[in-house]
Amino acid sequence: MSNPTVSAGSNKDRVLIFDTTLRDGEQCPGASMTLEEKLEVADLLDAMGVDIIEAGFPIASEGDFESVSEIARRVKNATVCGLSRAAPNDIDRCAEAVKHARRGRIHTFISTSPVHMKYKLQKEPHQVLELVTNQVTRARSHVEDVEWSAEDATRTEMDFLCRCVEAAIKAGATTINLPDTVGYTVPDEYAAMFRAVRERVPNADKAIFSVHCHNDLGMAVANSIAGLHGGARQIECTINGIGERAGNAALEEIVMALRVRGDVAPYDTGIEPTMLTRASKLVSAVTSFPVQYNKAIVGRNAFAHESGIHQDGMLKNTQTYEIMTPESVGVSKTSLVMGKHSGRHAFKEKLKDLGYSLGENALNDAFTRFKALADRKKHVYDEDIEALVDDELLNAHDRVKVVALTVIAGTMGHQSATLTLDMDGQHVTTQSTGNGPVDAIFNAIHALAPHKATLELYQVHAVTEGTDAQAEVSVRLSEGEATVTGKGADPDTMVASARAYVSALNKLMAKRGRGRPAAMNAGV
Ligand code: KIV
Ligand code: ZN
Repeated sequence: MSNPTVSAGSNKDRVLIFDTTLRDGEQCPGASMTLEEKLEVADLLDAMGVDIIEAGFPIASEGDFESVSEIARRVKNATVCGLSRAAPNDIDRCAEAVKHARRGRIHTFISTSPVHMKYKLQKEPHQVLELVTNQVTRARSHVEDVEWSAEDATRTEMDFLCRCVEAAIKAGATTINLPDTVGYTVPDEYAAMFRAVRERVPNADKAIFSVHCHNDLGMAVANSIAGLHGGARQIECTINGIGERAGNAALEEIVMALRVRGDVAPYDTGIEPTMLTRASKLVSAVTSFPVQYNKAIVGRNAFAHESGIHQDGMLKNTQTYEIMTPESVGVSKTSLVMGKHSGRHAFKEKLKDLGYSLGENALNDAFTRFKALADRKKHVYDEDIEALVDDELLNAHDRVKVVALTVIAGTMGHQSATLTLDMDGQHVTTQSTGNGPVDAIFNAIHALAPHKATLELYQVHAVTEGTDAQAEVSVRLSEGEATVTGKGADPDTMVASARAYVSALNKLMAKRGRGRPAAMNAGV
């Protein structure tokens, strides 16, 4: 058997991290990312030591195909994987998308549980079994590295599961994934399932077994680690645990659980833990899914000690209430950064510390914005810089940009907004009124760039404390099947709101892949 990542049976304690943020994560409503955003996430996953990046579902759309193949071309270390169902054209499309990868994998799946076979596939078990052999054989005709998944494995009858796994390995599958698709299992049961399958399937030692857990009962991470005790050596997970419904197992939680509790879970990963915070922030920024304040490892409060007793203990010895240091996961102490007199060199160094590596143009633009911010804001913190640079990076390719905005708000008369947009280099201006200043701004955008998208979410959060804090605004728009989220940051909440809405519109345009954003009447 050939497996480019690790050979089965060797190096037992090394666990492969298979990140599916760009596939299972992106699949959840509102989390869709543009090509540029996916490339940025893929680069970071690769740099932090992810073993396998599941980059998308190539047959799903042209956009998915393009992003999988672009990621396959540029990723340097990780295996790049695409997902496919059991249909031959699905598998062929996936093969086409990963063909330029240094290491490419086809991940092909089919449901094996009675409820899925009967209602979803409308097939008899013997037909599914035949498809297992066919799908893996077809995938192996394209690549050596083939993963086969038994969708809804945890609700599948054991005998049938074993027959399917045996057939998949016989046909050449190098990784066998047994997902808890509906987040139904519990740790002991999941571990026992892996033990039983590995004991009963005669050729089980020829493949690496993988866990893939959803979080419907809040046990995705615990189940994943239990799967390792049952003999699995690959974990499928996502940054911040984003994914279908309640999400997938969170990568950062798994990595840190294995590091902190190596005494009871003696498995190594290749992940650089100090990059976890940066990854979490990037994924939150590109999806606009906020990270819950008390989220393990990457939540804003994960290392905050509020009560007097805890603070007292921490001052005496940090081990009293800290099982890992914030620095170990890449949290730098909130620090005051340079003020308006700081130079470009210091700014560049600060960005490096925060984990950014910007090209010359992006650096110049970010520096100009930093100077403008430092002029307006007394204290500029790391979080301010991150919000500013994320805004700059994520909106760098936008064809529609906010140029100028004046808002009249208050208790007297109508609220109004005068807005100038740059649309493909052409400046257009309008004035609109609304039921409040935000409504007036959004009406002005609509007047300049007519569109049929529906506003699904408008959310503001303060990047730091204090009344002069920058506002970070998220706007989610949906149009037909497409749901996109845009973000904007600025000390002026109204400007941030305009930026966020325009950023979402740009994403919609990119999704539609339309020609020009056509100033005014034709709509974006
Ligand atoms: O949850 C699941 O079963 C999946 C499969 C496609 C692997 O995401
Ligand atoms: Zn899944």
